[in-house]
Amino acid sequence: MTKAESTLKIVAFSGSPRPGGNTEILMKEALRPLAEAGHGITVYPLNTLNIRPCQDCGNCTKTGVCVLRDDMTGIFTAIRAADRIILASPIYFYSLSAQAKAMVDRCQSFWCERYLLKRPIPAGPRGRKGLLLLVGGRRKENAAHCAEVTAKAFFRTISVPEHETLSYGGVDGRGDVEKHPTALRDAYEAGKRLVL
Ligand SMILES: Cc1cc2nc3c(=O)[nH]c(=O)nc-3n(C[C@H](O)[C@H](O)[C@H](O)COP(=O)(O)O)c2cc1C
Repeated sequence: MTKAESTLKIVAFSGSPRPGGNTEILMKEALRPLAEAGHGITVYPLNTLNIRPCQDCGNCTKTGVCVLRDDMTGIFTAIRAADRIILASPIYFYSLSAQAKAMVDRCQSFWCERYLLKRPIPAGPRGRKGLLLLVGGRRKENAAHCAEVTAKAFFRTISVPEHETLSYGGVDGRGDVEKHPTALRDAYEAGKRLVL
């Protein structure tokens, strides 16, 4: 196998608006072993991008293509080419952040391509795997449930058949995740497992 063939394309979405926040810290830690191994990494800080919410115009039901022209155009291409996809988000009102949800909703065009037009995105030669990273301030048992269900639908829609989830509650202040006894190590190990 050549170097180019063994190098994975990793696409990582951060749904937090808070620079240096818990989502960003956790995602960086998951990406660290992948960067160390020389894989190709593209990070999308969703809060800084121009992503309009889905307009339900219906065009993608016939073509599988979104007609809106904004930063999702590049993201669609990146998702198609990705071997591994990381979605990281803070929990907002029991769900993904609006920044993450807007990106996920725009993947309705992939949903149409897959389920209406019966043309799912093919997995690459190394398969496709996902990692979901969630942080929330509350410690409640079900605090991340809605986000997890949404993320699972997102991953299946973009032909990611399996993903791992790391979810941490009680993490509220900027950087609090660094005080968690296992979170950073868990994220690093999960990053390593993405390649296996
Ligand atoms: C608008 C908003 C809504 C939130 N809703 C929840 C919630 O429903 N459940 C929860 O556990 N934490 C909630 N939080 C707290 C954040 O999830 C928490 O502070 C998290 O660590 C932020 O991650 P970040 O540092 O990556 O931005 C909310 C925070 C904001 C700003």
